[in-house]
Amino acid sequence: MTKIEKIVLSYSGGLDTSIILKWLQETYGCEVVTFTADLGQGEELEPARAKAEMSGVKDIRIVDLREEFVSDFVFPMLRANALYEGQYLLGSSIARPLIAKHLVGIAREVGAHAIAHGATGKGNDQVRFELAVNALDPSIKIIAPWRQWNIRSRMQLLEYAEKHHIPVPSDKRGEAPFSIDANLLHTSTEGKILENPAEVAPDHVYQRTVDPVDAPDTPEIITIGFERGDPVSVNGKSMTPAALLTELNGLGGRHGIGRLDLVENRFIGMKSRGIYETPGGTILLTAHRGIESITLDRAAAHLKDEIMPRYSELIYNGFWFAPEREMLQALIDQSQTFVSGEVTLRLYKGSASVISRTSPLSLYSADLVTFEESAIAYDHHDAEGFIRLNGLRLRSWAARNGR
Ligand code: ARG
Repeated sequence: MTKIEKIVLSYSGGLDTSIILKWLQETYGCEVVTFTADLGQGEELEPARAKAEMSGVKDIRIVDLREEFVSDFVFPMLRANALYEGQYLLGSSIARPLIAKHLVGIAREVGAHAIAHGATGKGNDQVRFELAVNALDPSIKIIAPWRQWNIRSRMQLLEYAEKHHIPVPSDKRGEAPFSIDANLLHTSTEGKILENPAEVAPDHVYQRTVDPVDAPDTPEIITIGFERGDPVSVNGKSMTPAALLTELNGLGGRHGIGRLDLVENRFIGMKSRGIYETPGGTILLTAHRGIESITLDRAAAHLKDEIMPRYSELIYNGFWFAPEREMLQALIDQSQTFVSGEVTLRLYKGSASVISRTSPLSLYSADLVTFEESAIAYDHHDAEGFIRLNGLRLRSWAARNGR
């Protein structure tokens, strides 16, 4: 075994990663550089610096990745209308490749040959981190303490903390907390009572959306502007990607939009139940489909819909940096060339509904579709022939079957 000289750790400052930090220092006897990403999880990140300092870390990186997260990861994914298993907006899945990219960047910069993460041995996140690192730099070794150490329970974890004088906050002393992952796109909550899919999720699980029942009785009307498939403004005001998503999270949260209680199939082979809150993302998906409805050609739209589940599964399974994801992305991005215009939505008690859409590049022709007399040359006899030819094989089939 070659000796590891330096490790870059994905570090939140929470109890688990603090223990991992200590364990790495002890086990490998080398310098650990910590990397903490601000993805808009809404947590104060400076405490992470103090904690890392206390553990003797010299090189502490705290980086604001909010704009990069939304513009280079969330928006490209949104162009595809990506949903895993028809419902999940992939809020955790899409954050992992970005974190991995920065871990690799820092490792190269500081000359570290190993990266460590705190994802457990049963989830998708370990797969996503590690596949991304493999794709970006195959020379980097990955350390996954949860799969390597012999801590097997929460009790043992707390014991380890006590023994090494790692402060355990009082709310972490009792039973295990929910497993929560949050960023600008979503909050995901798993574990504890939620592990029984028959149990109704208690109200306090929800963190960033109100119960639709308690949402305002008056609907709110908003307009989102799109340019080439990406949202660029809210109510006429241009915003950066992260500012725009933050704004929509506020609006969506207030109206109880984007809650999801889901049992999903993890890549690793088991089913798991989670509660997701994706307020802004849910509004954007609806709005994006709204602007596509008038700007995309039918065959182009349907082709996008065909590849969407495949594309989503690649993201869910951790293949963001794989060639096939990039190939599909090129197709999706090209489809967005004319996806510009404005969509107006009504936010009301848990729902975001499109109520109007306009585009200078619209393919919609009122003149063509109208029930009234139309100036456009459309010969009704063409429709007759169209149906007759499409029905030809059905008539043969029915005749043979003796219907
Ligand atoms: N099940 C989700 C996914 O695989 C979320 C995983 C992270 N969430 C968590 N609460 N630890 O993308």
